Amino acid sequence: MALRPVLLFPDPRLKRVSAPVEDVTDGLRELAADMIDVMYDEPGIGLAAPQVAEAIRMVVMDTEWTEEGNDRDAQVIINPEILEREGSVIWTEGCLSVPDFQAEVERAARVKVRYIDLEGKEHVEDCDDLRAVCFQHENDHLDGVLFVDRISRLKRGLYTKKRKKALKLEEEDVAESGAL
Ligand code: NI
Repeated sequence: MALRPVLLFPDPRLKRVSAPVEDVTDGLRELAADMIDVMYDEPGIGLAAPQVAEAIRMVVMDTEWTEEGNDRDAQVIINPEILEREGSVIWTEGCLSVPDFQAEVERAARVKVRYIDLEGKEHVEDCDDLRAVCFQHENDHLDGVLFVDRISRLKRGLYTKKRKKALKLEEEDVAESGAL
């Protein structure tokens, strides 16, 4: 099984606004299965289609699973919408597309969400805690927004600098090994 690579900040494809899913096709089911593999392999608790370069409104999530803990029970969420937001909470977030960085982000504490599953069935759900935060984080990906877009300009600037430096070092390494 070949795992799809996860796009990394500052890849411009992460900034695209994704298109709604029109039909649940075999191709879509395959993509969902691939995304679930990538999510557990990384490992992460959520992954949005644009992170694997597919600009469509689909995410996979498993907020119960941890590396040590519960069984895997991934959920496929298509065309999610946040219908209501309530309260606020500060959460320390990370992202598979944002290497080596975590930061506190302010989110709504509770959200009411609507989405369809792979069978095309509609769900409306109230969620809080990690699941509410995860929904907001993944939904942001579908709008081309990363959690680093929701922190202070100063913190984002520092991270961007660090990231560009790391990318430059990687390039130099490739150039050096290429010269052998
Ligand atoms: Ni993310």
